[in-house]
This record gives sequence, structure tokens and C-alpha cells, in this order.
Amino acid sequence: MTPRMKKTTSPAEAGQILSAVRRKGLSTGFVPTMGGLHEGHLSLVRMSLARSDYTVVSIFVNPKQFGEGEDFDRYPRAAERDSELLEELGCDLLFVPAAGSLYSDADRTSVSVSSLGDHLCGAARPGHFDGVLLVVAKLLNITRPDHAFFGQKDAQQAVIIQRMAADLDFPVRIFLGPTVREEDGLAMSSRNRYLSAAERAAAPKMRAGLLAAAEAIEKGERDASALKKIVIAGMAAGGFEIDYVEVVDGRTMQPIAEASGTVLLAAAGKMGSTRMIDNIAMKVGPEGAGETLLEFPGWSRYER
Ligand code: PAF
Repeated sequence: MTPRMKKTTSPAEAGQILSAVRRKGLSTGFVPTMGGLHEGHLSLVRMSLARSDYTVVSIFVNPKQFGEGEDFDRYPRAAERDSELLEELGCDLLFVPAAGSLYSDADRTSVSVSSLGDHLCGAARPGHFDGVLLVVAKLLNITRPDHAFFGQKDAQQAVIIQRMAADLDFPVRIFLGPTVREEDGLAMSSRNRYLSAAERAAAPKMRAGLLAAAEAIEKGERDASALKKIVIAGMAAGGFEIDYVEVVDGRTMQPIAEASGTVLLAAAGKMGSTRMIDNIAMKVGPEGAGETLLEFPGWSRYER
């Protein structure tokens, strides 16, 4: 039986396959990943399959978004299992570029978005978002999808990518998928497989702290310092080494003193040697507060 899913490692071939798909009048959806696929990724692939006639997934552990001493070398690589999962789901094209086919020593161009990366992971991981933007810009240019899908777990990344796509007129509509969680609330992440059994048992405390702060907002707490203390207490109970806990505006990613409008409660910390992040986005208004997905109305002409 011929497998239905095509695979390529060549950017040129991926571009040609997708041009041919577009010439047939089919819409295309793109899910960029670094592999080590879990239900969070698969939920984005399902979103793409539901919304697009043709779905392409890329797997590329992008060296440019890892800092010195970070986990590039040990980042989970599970090529065969990932490919089987995607084929089972009905993905049409798997694009697995080699680093040498995306980057060369001659490259001189960088992509950066100002201010949105000043805090949270942008501050904790200098250069990280420039690396993400460079690869996402390249992958979007190679695949030229109608739709691209990112997870809200990496909320700051999603906002920065949306801003780049809008500012540079990438003809793509960006969709965010909700964070997919284990039964005990732990956000799914490829890095969860680094955790020992004891660390895995303690890891949901980050989510618990964020949830407690979200509940405090629902009950009327608006003071960002009080909210941060609640998250910090939750993380401390789990033994996290805290990297940051912030309350930021969901569009500007700037810290706010009072929770109002679209608010992102965001946390990062180390459980043992594993860096973990999570967040909750809330809409907070005079009539009350509730969890929301981040949205970017009016940012891009392709959103309409
Ligand atoms: O979220 C990720 O897995 C990566 O940052 C992305 C968007 C695939 C770029 O390398």
C-alpha cells in the first residue's frame, strides 16, 4: 500500500508540492513543530485538517532558538513515531528539513519584533524569539499556507508570530489552539519526558498556582502583585525554581499593575533540570472575568 502522506526533506520540493496543491484551488494549513509530538501538536493538526483541504506539518529542531547551555542536543527526537502519528491522523505532507537546507554561513538577515519580547521568555531567553521568528518566517515562505496553527501554551511566541505575520504582510491567517493538558492539569510539552517520576508528580503545581490566581481574579482580585504571590506560592509548593511569574497585557505582553482587559498570567520555572512554562489568559471586565483564548482582532488583513 502506498502511504498517503508525502514526506520531504527538501525546501524546494515542499514548495513545489504546495504550489501544485494551490494550483488545484485547495486551501493549505501548516503546523510547524519541533517534533516529539504529543496531543497538543496533534490537536493543532486536527484543527488544520478541519479547516484546510491540505495539511503540511514541519518537524525541525531549530538550533537558532536555543541559547548556550539549553537543551538543543537532548531535545526529544522521535522521527519514526512522529511520522506514524501524523500519517494516522491524515496529514498530507511531512516536511523535515535538514539544518543545512534552511541555514547557511552566507545568511545575513534577522527578524525581530520590538517590545513584545521584552518580558517573560523573551527576557529569560535572550535571542530565543529572534530564532523562532527567523525559522517561522522561512517556513511560512517555503510553505505559503492559507492557515497556520500555534498553541496557546507558548502564548508569547504566538503573539510575536502574529505580530510579525501582520507587520510583514504574510498572506496567512494564524490560529491559536488551546493548551492541551494531562488529566492532572499539566500542560503537554515535549520536555515533560525529561521529568523523573517525582518531578512529574510535582509539576502540576505550576498550573495549580495559575488556576488559584485565575480564581482570585474571578472573585474580584485585580492587584497584580497579589496575583503573582498566589502563583509563586503554588509553584513553591511544587518545588519549582521560579524563573518568572508575571501578569501582562495579553496583546502587548507588558506587565500590568491591575488585571483588566485581556490579561495573561504567565509562569516559568525549573523542575529539576527541566524548564517548564504555562499560562492562563483571562478576559477581565466590569461584568466579571473568565478564561479566554488570545485573539488578535484587526492585526492582520488576512484575519478578515
Ligand atoms: O513552538 C515550537 O515548537 C517552535 O518554537 C516552532 C514554532 C516550531 C518554531 O521552531
